[in-house]
Amino acid sequence: MSLAKVFRENPNRRYIMFGGKGGLGKTTFSAATAYWLAKQGKRVLVFSVDPQASLSDIFKQDIFGKGAVEIMPNLYAQEIDADQHIREYQDQIRKKILDMYGFDKIPDEIESYIQAASAEPAMEESAIFDQVVDIVVAGEYDYYIYDLVPLGHALYYLSMASVYDQWISKITKLREEMREYEQMAARLSRKSELQEDEILRELQDIRYRISTSSSILTDREKTAFFFVLVPEEMILIDTQNAASLFRKYDVPLSGYIVNRVIPDELIEKGNIPSYLRNRHTMQKKYLQKIDELFGQDVLARVEEMERDIAGLPMIEKMAQAMFGEETL
Ligand SMILES: Nc1ncnc2c1ncn2[C@@H]1O[C@H](COP(=O)(O)OP(=O)(O)O)[C@@H](O)[C@H]1O
Ligand SMILES: [Mg+2]
Repeated sequence: MSLAKVFRENPNRRYIMFGGKGGLGKTTFSAATAYWLAKQGKRVLVFSVDPQASLSDIFKQDIFGKGAVEIMPNLYAQEIDADQHIREYQDQIRKKILDMYGFDKIPDEIESYIQAASAEPAMEESAIFDQVVDIVVAGEYDYYIYDLVPLGHALYYLSMASVYDQWISKITKLREEMREYEQMAARLSRKSELQEDEILRELQDIRYRISTSSSILTDREKTAFFFVLVPEEMILIDTQNAASLFRKYDVPLSGYIVNRVIPDELIEKGNIPSYLRNRHTMQKKYLQKIDELFGQDVLARVEEMERDIAGLPMIEKMAQAMFGEETL
């Protein structure tokens, strides 16, 4: 079992994702993998699409909403600020309306409509997704590591069907919005002719984004998706369910990483509190089950560390635990 080998043998897999329930180690593995790749001279962006992002915590640096921040040579981290993106989107709509209808100022009626539309929860997801697409389409990095939200959302980002649906509804909504803006504007301005070109261009741009993003996210050649799990019964069941869901959506899976394994050496030392000894025994049972179920797809076992992983020295230690001395 070797995680490094998966990277070595699949150099085209440049979109890297770790999926699994909250708290299992996705952000930690994302950061450590980014570190491992950056140390070998690859230009890496690790970015978070989680509103409760914790890249700032793990890198011990406030990066929220600041774009891509250089952490060390070749390693960049970004936490997406969805609210900022929504504000930018509102400004774009305002500008379009001003340009289209030749107003000097957005009429109050339209302004309140823009405000109301932005308060919808779908807007935040859409804003985040938009920014992810922008980042990926720009193509400035060798590797993109997505620090994902818990599993259900990962599927949302991954399965072509849902990505497509999301965009289709966005197109429909855009058309409806345009129609409503048009009606409102027609009442308020004499220049009421809708500029078809503008809408068409927008739709073509959206279509380009659909095909680019969905082809990247579901492409077996370009994407590596790893499941993170811990040796516990409930997590094992969840992981099996998720894996079958992935198969159903035909989302490519690169393998499994088992986290928080209590090292045997620790237990052999003796003088170990019984709760720890019992946990170790329980883990043994599930580690065996995991091997039986996933076999060669179990790529690494990462041990429980003495404390939380934060700051570059701990991240380096984690990278070592995941990849050993191996290189690309
Ligand atoms: N092997 C490990 N040993 C010790 N602490 C760990 C280990 N893996 C993860 N942690 C800690 O567990 C917490 C949750 O990890 P995190 O990567 O944020 O999970 P997720 O992103 O999946 O929610 C963090 O505080 C992290 O430092
Ligand atoms: Mg996380």
